[in-house]
Amino acid sequence: MSATARKAAPMPDDIRAMKGGTPIVSLTAYTTPMAQMMDAHCDFVLVGDSVGMVLHGMPSTLGVTMEMMILHGKAVARGLKQSMMVVDMPFGSYEESPAQAFRNAADLMAETGAGAVKLEGGRHMAETIAFLVARGVPVMAHIGLTPQSINTLGGYKVQGRGAAAAALMADARAVSDAGAFSVVLEKVPAALADQITAEIAIPTIGIGASVNCDGQILVVDDMLGLFTAFKPKFVKRYAALGSDGEAAIASFAEEVRARAFPGPEHSFADKAPT
Ligand code: KIV
Repeated sequence: MSATARKAAPMPDDIRAMKGGTPIVSLTAYTTPMAQMMDAHCDFVLVGDSVGMVLHGMPSTLGVTMEMMILHGKAVARGLKQSMMVVDMPFGSYEESPAQAFRNAADLMAETGAGAVKLEGGRHMAETIAFLVARGVPVMAHIGLTPQSINTLGGYKVQGRGAAAAALMADARAVSDAGAFSVVLEKVPAALADQITAEIAIPTIGIGASVNCDGQILVVDDMLGLFTAFKPKFVKRYAALGSDGEAAIASFAEEVRARAFPGPEHSFADKAPT
């Protein structure tokens, strides 16, 4: 699906139908201007719970709340016309029971207009995914490194190496069989990501996975060089907006101190010319 040929935002089924075709393009967004910038170029935009770390300075995604996801989801929705919006379910909003997950997923969709929600987890979330899908909530799954579980995973490690590969493959099969329309594979060895992509019926969206996934996603602040606290190996920086921005701010400060800004072109005369 080319950005120029597309008229309406895709639905989850359109994303599912892209399995094995032109790679699916996606980025995270948290604000209206960022969403506007990527709308013509992405198949879907994820309002990721990474917002907690990249915009709010939190040490992990664990402190992100439903209120934050709704606020940022509404902002992103205002910037999208062509791209589908997926909103992350934050930690604690879906793990307790399928009923809890439905209540919060329904709130996220109703408040933000999201086309789908994303939640983390494999086999243990399959029942919840099936419950949501049966009740009208399209679900994108997220397996491999699931950042909401860093405390039980022992940090931000690659998942599925060696003997752990079979369990990750079982997670991929479980979320696909449960009715998820796609699955994010985060920090998974490339060969295993290829096997999963070849075996399951739904598109795989890679982040630190494989070039052969059905699609790719990055955190927009990472790829624009706006978030520089650390750089995972899987991030490619396509711009250096953080350092460019700091240089611009330094120029502004210098000009203000030297009384070089504002110039006459930025100032107003007493009377407007007649
Ligand atoms: O929250 C997020 O940004 C994500 C992506 C890394 C897939 O889940």
